[in-house]
Amino acid sequence: METPSKVQHKQSDLGYVPVYATGVVEQPWADYTRDEHRVWDTLFARQRELLPGRACREFLDGVKRFGLGDGGIPKFSELNKVLGAATGWELVGVEGLLPDNVFFDHLAHRRFPVTWWIRKPDQLDYLSEPDLFHDMFGHVPLLLNPVFADYMQAYGRGGMKAFAIGPQALINLTRLYWYTVEFGLIHTSEGMRIYGAGIVSSKGESIYCLDSPAPNRIGFNLERVMSTRYRIDTYQQTYFVIDDFEQLFAATRPDFTPIYTTLAPQPAHAARSVLPADHVFTRGTGEGWATDADT
Ligand code: PHE
Ligand code: CO
Repeated sequence: METPSKVQHKQSDLGYVPVYATGVVEQPWADYTRDEHRVWDTLFARQRELLPGRACREFLDGVKRFGLGDGGIPKFSELNKVLGAATGWELVGVEGLLPDNVFFDHLAHRRFPVTWWIRKPDQLDYLSEPDLFHDMFGHVPLLLNPVFADYMQAYGRGGMKAFAIGPQALINLTRLYWYTVEFGLIHTSEGMRIYGAGIVSSKGESIYCLDSPAPNRIGFNLERVMSTRYRIDTYQQTYFVIDDFEQLFAATRPDFTPIYTTLAPQPAHAARSVLPADHVFTRGTGEGWATDADT
């Protein structure tokens, strides 16, 4: 294990960028300040208020089983007892975003990397990189669901394969992660619900993704998702909707190698596009969107 340290910044060709340690760090739990525990409690209270009736049952169950609202920043070691017994996953502490191959290797071995530091009190609504609240509150509850837990591991293995194939395959696969694990919606018998970690960890997007007339909500289709650009700096222009986690797992089971080959020469779709073959739940009005900022 390495010693946790605050993220360093250094001048590079890309400007002033964060530089992360790529190793696993021990969660410095005893060093969190009262203010940092209070940031967790504030963010947790806001989402608990908002998410019943918005997040899927599997997510809400996970939050409860882990006791994420018992007060203060949870201990990785405590959550790991519950998680290990349930699905064999393990949380490991990290400094922040990891290089793709390191991230995939963790997932492939049922280790979920969680950033050890939490955002500042003036960053409750937005920060540009994942912190402890996003990683833990957003991602960890669903790791208690056996099907979703297996999907995450399969994604890690698929990532290692895509990494070996090349950069375009990685782009296709990253879009799948974005539109499912981070920003996925699920159409349950009770109505449209959220399962994506990027949504459930954001107060604004938890409301927008279900209530706003602006975005498209389109039925999940693997190749469609893998060929669609996305937004990293605003709420999504399109959400993809699954029926259940079994559908997601089944759709991603085939070998992607021929799919990468098929997609390679085709142009990507804009984040806002609606295509003739789409199963459209709602067609967005596009209200308030920039048109030139897809990733
Ligand atoms: N089946 C995919 C492949 O062969 C792996 C994968 C599984 C990717 C689940 C994403 C999610 O590459
Ligand atoms: Co995330």
